[in-house]
Formats: sequence, C-alpha cells, structure tokens
Amino acid sequence: MGCTVVVDGFFGDGGKGKIISYLAVKDRLSICARAGGGPNAGHTVVREGKVYKLRMIPSAFTYEKCRLLIGPGVVINPEILLREARELGVSDRLGVDRQCAIIERRHIEADSRGHLKGKIGTTGSGTGPCNAERAMRTVRIARDLPELREYLADVPLEVNEALDRGEEVLIEGTQGTFLSLYHGTYPYVTSKDVTASAACADVGVGPTRVDEVILVLKAYVTRVGPGELPGEIPWEEAVRRGWAEVATVTGRKRRAAPFNFGLARRAVMLNGATQIALTKVDILYPECRGVRSYRELTHGARGFIEKVEDELGLPVTLIGTGPDLWEVVDRREA
Ligand code: IMP
Ligand code: MG
Repeated sequence: MGCTVVVDGFFGDGGKGKIISYLAVKDRLSICARAGGGPNAGHTVVREGKVYKLRMIPSAFTYEKCRLLIGPGVVINPEILLREARELGVSDRLGVDRQCAIIERRHIEADSRGHLKGKIGTTGSGTGPCNAERAMRTVRIARDLPELREYLADVPLEVNEALDRGEEVLIEGTQGTFLSLYHGTYPYVTSKDVTASAACADVGVGPTRVDEVILVLKAYVTRVGPGELPGEIPWEEAVRRGWAEVATVTGRKRRAAPFNFGLARRAVMLNGATQIALTKVDILYPECRGVRSYRELTHGARGFIEKVEDELGLPVTLIGTGPDLWEVVDRREA
C-alpha cells in the first residue's frame, strides 16, 4: 500500500492501537511513525492474551522488524517514552526526531489545575501546556537532552527515503477527529489538530505521498471528559449494552452514545478517508467474537457494515471482532 495514515473518526479510543498492531504484522511494516499528541494518548494492544497500554511507543511494535519513529510534531515525556521502550524491549529500533518538544514538570503541573483540569478535563499529561510553550518558542526539544542522544533521528528523511524505496510506512494518528483543536468541539478539544493532514505534517510527509487514509470508527461512540456527545446514553445503560469503558490514561469513565453517521460522514470528509476500519463489532454482535472471515459474521453485523458503507461511500476493509490483534476480518484482498 505504500504510505498509510490511520486516524480515529470520533473522539478517540476507537481501537487504532489494535488495528495498527495488526497491520504491522500483516503488512510487514518497515516504519511506523507516531504522529498526533503526546502521552495524553493511550493506545491498547492485545497480543496472545497480554495487554499493552502504550502512551508513546508506536503501536506497530508487534512486528519485530518495524522501525518505531516519533515525528517532530509530537511532544514527548522522555521518562514515559524510555520506560515503555525498555519494558517492550524495543530500544534498538526506536528513533525520536530531533525536534520533538519535551514535556517538563511545569507543563504537567499547569495541566493538572485551573481551567485545563476543571473546565476542559485534560488528561493532565502536560501535552497541552508543552504545545503552548512550543508555540511561544521557549520549549526545549529532543536534541537538547543527553538521555535522548542515542535515539535522535531525522524522521521526515527516514520516512520519505523508505517510501522512495517502495517500503510500507504507516503514520499513526492519536486522539480523534472531534478532539481536533481546529475541527473538534472547541473548547473541549485537545491542543492541536489531529486529523490526517496534521498527522502527515507531524512526521514530515507531504500530501501527495499518501496512498491510503484508514478512518477508524468504533461501532458505538465514546468520549472522555466534557463536551457535546450527541445521543449520549446514561452510564447504567452503557453498562447494560456492554459499552461501559474506562479511559486508558486517566481511568475516567468514558461517556457513550450510539454510532453516529453524521459525525462519521464529516470525519470522512475532514480526513480524506479512503477506507474504514470498523472496530468492536463483536460488542454489538457478540456471536461475531473472534470471527476472521466476512461470511462468518452474523446477518445483523453484515447489515450494519453494509449500512456504514452505503452512508459513507467507502469500503469497510477491516472489521474488529475482539481485542486481540488477530481478531479481525481483513477484506482488503477480497
Ligand atoms: P488533553 O489532550 O490532555 O489536553 O485533553 C483534552 C481533551 O481531550 C480531554 O477531554 C481529554 O479527555 C481528551 N483526550 C486527550 N487525549 C485523548 C485520547 O487519547 N483519547 C480520548 N480522549 C482524549
Ligand atoms: Mg485511547
């Protein structure tokens, strides 16, 4: 496929981690370049029963030959990044762009009080204040830190050279379309644009180089923190439907609502999506759990998938049927 961008079409937590960890192994990715926010992100990967909660390391770590890069647009917390790299044993294939901004204690403190905590309900990770300071051009960047020296890389150059050689590159977005600073439910949004174009800019890839934009849509919508959520159902109802989720980074309850075709259509537009990954279909249709071929999906599930395709005018190429990275229907070759 060449260059693929993966972004979330709602409010994040749609299952990018699962989809990317699958694509990494299946497509033998050469590079996964992390774009988007910083350690405010929480991507969950499940492999052979083991659950990995990632905040900084690209979700494609599951393919042992995949180079794991962090683009210059991303803000990093070196402590979290290096700990995750050590725990996953991926330090030897990690590259951090020289220009990544560094989260410091004062950013975390600023993110944990005042209107950011009270009104916006941020993750408290320091990501927003760090981005603000980057805009002020006073923030320290990766090349200023001795502990990052051995990981420093020119991410745009590496990514574009890999594409020149015809290799498979995936750009990993974070958060979700409607948490975008530009396109989301302002002011209840994250501290930067997180749509596909921004993800490309974060890693230094120009728009003409992108081959596919996979929009990840969960079979129902969830949102952490305040801000509008059309069709929101009470927590007790979410529990009853199996939609009750708890946030990876903050442990907060995720608010829930049914799949929203209007938002999905707008997300397709904003991201220039070319395909849809529809995740957690097994939560709506439990008999589909673990299914790996389209014809084994239930009638109800196939009806839902066809409706998504009709309404959005795009193929649903990947269907999540469980948390494990192999629990997926892959229709790309069909
Ligand atoms: P911040 O990104 O920490 O500044 O938080 C701003 C808003 O975005 C809050 O409502 C957060 O709950 C939300 N948010 C940030 N990152 C994520 C994420 O990765 N998944 C879901 N919500 C997020
Ligand atoms: Mg998440």
